[in-house]
Amino acid sequence: MRRDFVPTELEWPSTWADRVDRNRTPSILGHELAGVVTALGYGTTGLSVGQRVFGLADWHRDGTLAEYVAMEARNLAPLPGDVDFTVGASLPISGLTAWQGLFQHGRLQAGQSILAHGAAGAVGSMVTQLARAAGAYVIGTGRAADRQKALDFGANEFVDLENDALEDVGAVDVVFDVIGGDIQKRSAALIRAGGTLVTVVGPAEARPADGLAVDFVVESDRAQLSEIVQRVRDGRLRTNIGKVSTLDDAVATFNATERRAGKTVIRVRP
Ligand SMILES: NC(=O)c1ccc[n+]([C@@H]2O[C@H](COP(=O)([O-])OP(=O)(O)OC[C@H]3O[C@@H](n4cnc5c(N)ncnc54)[C@H](OP(=O)(O)O)[C@@H]3O)[C@@H](O)[C@H]2O)c1
Repeated sequence: MRRDFVPTELEWPSTWADRVDRNRTPSILGHELAGVVTALGYGTTGLSVGQRVFGLADWHRDGTLAEYVAMEARNLAPLPGDVDFTVGASLPISGLTAWQGLFQHGRLQAGQSILAHGAAGAVGSMVTQLARAAGAYVIGTGRAADRQKALDFGANEFVDLENDALEDVGAVDVVFDVIGGDIQKRSAALIRAGGTLVTVVGPAEARPADGLAVDFVVESDRAQLSEIVQRVRDGRLRTNIGKVSTLDDAVATFNATERRAGKTVIRVRP
């Protein structure tokens, strides 16, 4: 079994309170997983005991850093036998966030240009690959050290946010923001008429002069998960795993002081 987490999870209200704001500590963290179905709740259809699955757990309930987790069947998709659990666990949040941000919220079309922030990061590397595969021109951004990694994920060009002028990028159709703040505001100003700012770091603080600003929280979607994992199998999509750790080391991994590069996967069982 493999579990995964997003580093900002400790800051989410849903980690500490349930839907009616009752304290739900001690909370079990982790909201994505790959594993095997061990039991089915009454009325569950579409899954069977022993089946390999991966997916996204409820934000407001105990999560996936445990040997067993109760999940709604609709939040899981079959994990093909040739995709290992570590890869499966790394895909749901970053893959679905990129997919939904690009195609549902950003309405990205072939031939358009997109500014993909944090292109070497977990979400950004998926955004970069999926946008390129959709026929878009991708300008990746990040720290100076991320240039080659972002280009390897398929960015057509790279903007080093620490040293380059973002404004030199010119006009783009879509901005995919994973950073917020001043970078989000300056990026919104680059959006062409009719374009979209998509952000995943909370309510949009900026808006294009003549376009849409969309913020959203990723949702589970079995068909999208299946499409994402199929692309991984085909070699069209590469996951971005930085560190694989054990459950015993999970606390230290959450509190890591060094820079994270890609997804962190916690192996619950060897
Ligand atoms: N709304 C949703 O549904 C949703 C879903 C998934 C993720 N998120 C959020 O999206 C954000 C990104 O998640 P992630 O998992 O992709 O994180 P990640 O793997 O850390 O990727 C973010 C990337 O952006 C870079 N970056 C951040 N600030 C930067 C700056 N000022 N200048 C240059 N580069 C910068 C990071 O570099 P450093 O590591 O050096 O900072 C990293 O490479 C998080 O806040 C997460 O909570 C939201």
